Amino acid sequence: MIPDLFNIENKVVIITGGLGQLGRQFTRGLVLYGANVIILDILPSNNNYYLHLTDELGSSHLDYYQVDITNKESIDIVSKNIIRKWDCPSGLINTAAIDAPPNASLENAGPLELYSEAAWDKMLEVNVKGTFLCCQIFGSEMAKKNRGSIINISSIYGMVSPDQRIYQYRRKKGEQFYKPVAYSVSKSAIYNLTRYLATYWGEQNVRVNTITFGGVFNNQDKEFLQEYCIRVPLGRMASENEYTGAIVFLLSDASSYMTGSNMIIDGGWTAW
Ligand SMILES: NC(=O)c1ccc[n+]([C@@H]2O[C@H](COP(=O)([O-])OP(=O)(O)OC[C@H]3O[C@@H](n4cnc5c(N)ncnc54)[C@H](O)[C@@H]3O)[C@@H](O)[C@H]2O)c1
Repeated sequence: MIPDLFNIENKVVIITGGLGQLGRQFTRGLVLYGANVIILDILPSNNNYYLHLTDELGSSHLDYYQVDITNKESIDIVSKNIIRKWDCPSGLINTAAIDAPPNASLENAGPLELYSEAAWDKMLEVNVKGTFLCCQIFGSEMAKKNRGSIINISSIYGMVSPDQRIYQYRRKKGEQFYKPVAYSVSKSAIYNLTRYLATYWGEQNVRVNTITFGGVFNNQDKEFLQEYCIRVPLGRMASENEYTGAIVFLLSDASSYMTGSNMIIDGGWTAW
C-alpha cells in the first residue's frame, strides 16, 4: 500500500498569529485536511475573525487562546492548558509578527536616519523573541515526545534587502515611507534560530524549518502593485492560499528528512 505521505489528520497544530491574513488561511487549509488547529493570537477571543472561522469550519477541530507571544509566563500557562485539553502539539507554525503598515509614522517607517529605538525594540521583541519563546516552550514539549515539526515564517526582506525604489512613487508625493530596517533584521534572525533549533533537537526528531514568503495580495494600491509586480518573475503577488501546500508538506511525513532548511516561495523574487 502507498502510505498517505501528506496525511495530517488529527495532528494538533498551533498557529501563532492565526487571526492574521495568512494565519486564517492556514487555519482553513489545515482544518480541511483534518488537523486540530489551535490559534494563539493577541486579539480578544470574541473578535470577528475567530467568530467567522468557527462559523465556517465548526468548532470541533478549532480552539483559540488569547496570548501575547512576548510574554513567557502567559505562553507557559496556555501550553499547559492545550496539552491538558488536546495533547502535546506535533506542529507549531510561528506566523505572528508585526510590520510597519503603509500609513506608519516617520519613526516607524521613515528614513533610516529617523528610525526610532522604540520601533526597533518592538519589532525584534515580537518577531524574534516571541518566535523564540514559542519554539522554546512548545518545542521542549515536542522533544519530550520525540516528534514534532516547527515552521518559522520569514520573508524575502529577511533574505535580501527590500528594494526601496518600490516606494519612490510615494516619496514623489511627499510621503516618506521606507520598509523598516528592523523588519528585515528580524526576519533574517529567523533563519539561524531555525538552524540552531534544528540541530539542537535533531536527535529528538523535532524538525525545524523556515518558509520564506514573498508579498501577498491584500488590495494594495495600484501604484504599489505595479512597482512590486515588475520585480517578480511570475509578474504578480501571491494569493493568500498559495502557501498552504508548503505548510501541509512540512507538517507531514512527506518532509520527514527535512530540517534546518529554508523553503522559498516568492514567485521568483530572489532569483534575480
Ligand atoms: N503578508 C505578506 O505579504 C507577507 C510576506 C512575507 C512574509 N510574511 C510573514 O507572514 C507572517 C504572517 O503575515 P500576515 O500578513 O498574515 O500578518 P498579519 O499582520 O495579517 O497577522 C499577524 C498576526 O499576528 C498577531 N500578533 C501580532 N503581535 C502578536 C503578539 N505579540 N502576540 C500574539 N499575536 C500577535 C496579530 O494580531 C495578527 O493576527 C508574518 O510572519 C509575516 O512577516 C507576510
